[in-house]
Amino acid sequence: MNTKKTSSIARVIRANRFAKECCEMVLECPGIAASAKPGQFVQMKAWEGFQPLLRRPISIAGVVDRSSLLLWIRIVGPGSRLITSKLPGDEIELIGPLGNGFEPPDKNEKVWMVAGTLGAAPLRFYSQLYGAGADCRFFYGGAASCDMEVVEDAEICKMNVCATTEDGSAGQKGLVTDILKPALDESPPDRIITCGPKGMMKAVAALSAAAGTKCDVSLDCFMACGFGACMGCAVPILDDGGKRYLHACSDGPVFDSAVIDWEAL
Ligand SMILES: Cc1cc2nc3c(=O)[nH]c(=O)nc-3n(C[C@H](O)[C@H](O)[C@H](O)COP(=O)(O)OP(=O)(O)OC[C@H]3O[C@@H](n4cnc5c(N)ncnc54)[C@H](O)[C@@H]3O)c2cc1C
Ligand code: FES
Repeated sequence: MNTKKTSSIARVIRANRFAKECCEMVLECPGIAASAKPGQFVQMKAWEGFQPLLRRPISIAGVVDRSSLLLWIRIVGPGSRLITSKLPGDEIELIGPLGNGFEPPDKNEKVWMVAGTLGAAPLRFYSQLYGAGADCRFFYGGAASCDMEVVEDAEICKMNVCATTEDGSAGQKGLVTDILKPALDESPPDRIITCGPKGMMKAVAALSAAAGTKCDVSLDCFMACGFGACMGCAVPILDDGGKRYLHACSDGPVFDSAVIDWEAL
């Protein structure tokens, strides 16, 4: 699904704080918005010079008014802090859309989504573009009630949302896999698509395999160049001939969970 990537200057339309230490940004960028697919990402640079050195990869959470990108960004370090400090009217450099993205649903295919906090971003875009609709179940895991703003998003609310928090301050207390397992035991879907912390996706992959359900994971691993020119994003995969590696940035970030060597990742 690789599409033509472009380097663009995007104008900030909106930048609002939401959830815990997160920012929702809308960036006007018609070239990337026109061709972006769910699961693809952009490499962002919002600073002069080489501090930080590397662009930062961020998933596309949706398209607004056909010409702008919606992004959900957690502030964790210098790159995300500089990006989210931009105000309406400011400009940010983007390269994208990058990566393969999720396969669209087949006719009548039943797809469920499983997200951990901002891993919801590419799944939200999937729902927006392919109309996952009311039959689609959206399993969501956060740490506490402050993570719940994600599932109040209008696009995500169109789905049948089941949420957990680790501290029990909203939704069911526990992990998202605690509610996924009984649902899979009852009536598994054709496919699960998932994005979130590595441990969560590893557990979702194992539950899906046990249920005989295909599972596509979007890996959020460290990246450098973002388009296959270095080995900054090596993903160990299982192969009949022994171990080998794929690039998360250009072969992924979406992989069939059955090909990943989860023990080595
Ligand atoms: C394909 C892809 C899509 C992504 N989509 C989003 C998104 O939609 N929203 C979002 O908030 N973040 C997303 N990320 C993660 C985001 O790129 C990192 O959080 C960001 O690069 C951190 O940069 P920084 O300079 O702020 O922090 P750094 O100083 O680089 O890192 C701060 C802390 O975050 C950890 N970290 C850095 N990069 C990652 C990473 N890729 N995965 C896990 N931990 C990391 C570091 O180990 C460190 O502990 C995505 C990553 C990938 C590869
Ligand atoms: S980040 Fe350079 S090859 Fe993937």
